Amino acid sequence: MHITDLELTNFRKFKKIKLNNLKRINAIIGKNGVGKTSIIESIYFGSIAKSFKSYYDDVLLNEEESFFKIKINLEKENFNKKLEIIVNGKDKKAKIDGQLIKKLSNYICEYSVVLFSPDDIRLIKDNPNTRRNYLNIKLSNINKEYIDLINNYNKLIKSKNDYLKKINLNSNLDEKYLDVLDEKIAEIGINICKYRKEYIENVNEYINIIFKKFKKEDEIKLKYLSDFLNKTKKDIILMLKKVRKKEIILGLTTTGVHRDDFEFIHNNKNAVNYSSQGVQKLILLSLKLSEIKLLDNKYKIKPILLLDDLFSELDESNQKKIMKLLSKKYQTFITTTDLNNIKVKDLKEINVIKIKEVI
Ligand SMILES: Nc1ncnc2c1ncn2[C@@H]1O[C@H](COP(=O)(O)OP(=O)(O)OP(=O)(O)O)[C@@H](O)[C@H]1O
Ligand SMILES: [Mg+2]
Repeated sequence: MHITDLELTNFRKFKKIKLNNLKRINAIIGKNGVGKTSIIESIYFGSIAKSFKSYYDDVLLNEEESFFKIKINLEKENFNKKLEIIVNGKDKKAKIDGQLIKKLSNYICEYSVVLFSPDDIRLIKDNPNTRRNYLNIKLSNINKEYIDLINNYNKLIKSKNDYLKKINLNSNLDEKYLDVLDEKIAEIGINICKYRKEYIENVNEYINIIFKKFKKEDEIKLKYLSDFLNKTKKDIILMLKKVRKKEIILGLTTTGVHRDDFEFIHNNKNAVNYSSQGVQKLILLSLKLSEIKLLDNKYKIKPILLLDDLFSELDESNQKKIMKLLSKKYQTFITTTDLNNIKVKDLKEINVIKIKEVI
């Protein structure tokens, strides 16, 4: 799978930019602020119709414009696909080969990406919401059923929260309605929990082996935390009954997979307050390299690799290790301010895109 052409209209600072004849390894070069990360962001957006930088799409829109568009020509084994995403206010449309796709979830992941970004550190440092989003995005990549599960679960939680707030005000309690909601929450939540547990287990098959290439003596693993972990539907319904009083007082659903989290466990301690900054970066790199292996080995997906500012943050020996670990079988986009930062044997292999020249 291979992106051959990318065209952006009104995306971030680009009124129009066309990148044609993209190759296997593409280096996007330019000074600070020319829009290198924005190009990476647009390729990411083309994959899952979301940005990794912002929850809201409107910040992606070029100032003074009313819509933005991302057009991608994708080459798969022996056919082409023309992908298009158009965002106009709250309206987000996707087209494949000119045909409007009715449900956005049917567009998502025409191609998959693995992103290495300076923002990845948020995965360790931020609140659980960031890690849940990460799991949701990864699982949506491999499973369309998961997207529907999450959407349905979120709707249930919203209905339950709305109701809990309401009864808090007028204390007219319909226990049966809450029973019905809780049963559905248990049913869908248990499935979400299974997917997440399996994903974390899969990552754990790779992450420690990869991490040891950087730090031989150390151990790393992910630990999944969930209210629903290893529980039956019956257990969960009972658990939800027990917290009902508290939920009514708070006017909020306090228990469920919408509170899930995971930890990075480094030498049996939580990496967030134990590991050095450099080691945290290596942990995240190992996670990303595990993602690539997992997608390829288990799901037979060859992801496109997006390496934003990767090399400027690593010492030279780790840069070389990374280059060795990144296989040339995946299409790769690398941003840098200086081509010398990219440690490959043969620079001729790289398609150099100088941003200043193409705007
Ligand atoms: N919606 C927008 N409309 C217009 N300009 C924008 C918008 N969003 C961001 N910009 C501008 O685009 C610039 C380029 O951002 P980007 O992060 O892509 O640059 P970069 O080349 O990756 O820089 P660096 O080398 O510092 O990482 C920002 O500094 C900002 O001024
Ligand atoms: Mg940048």
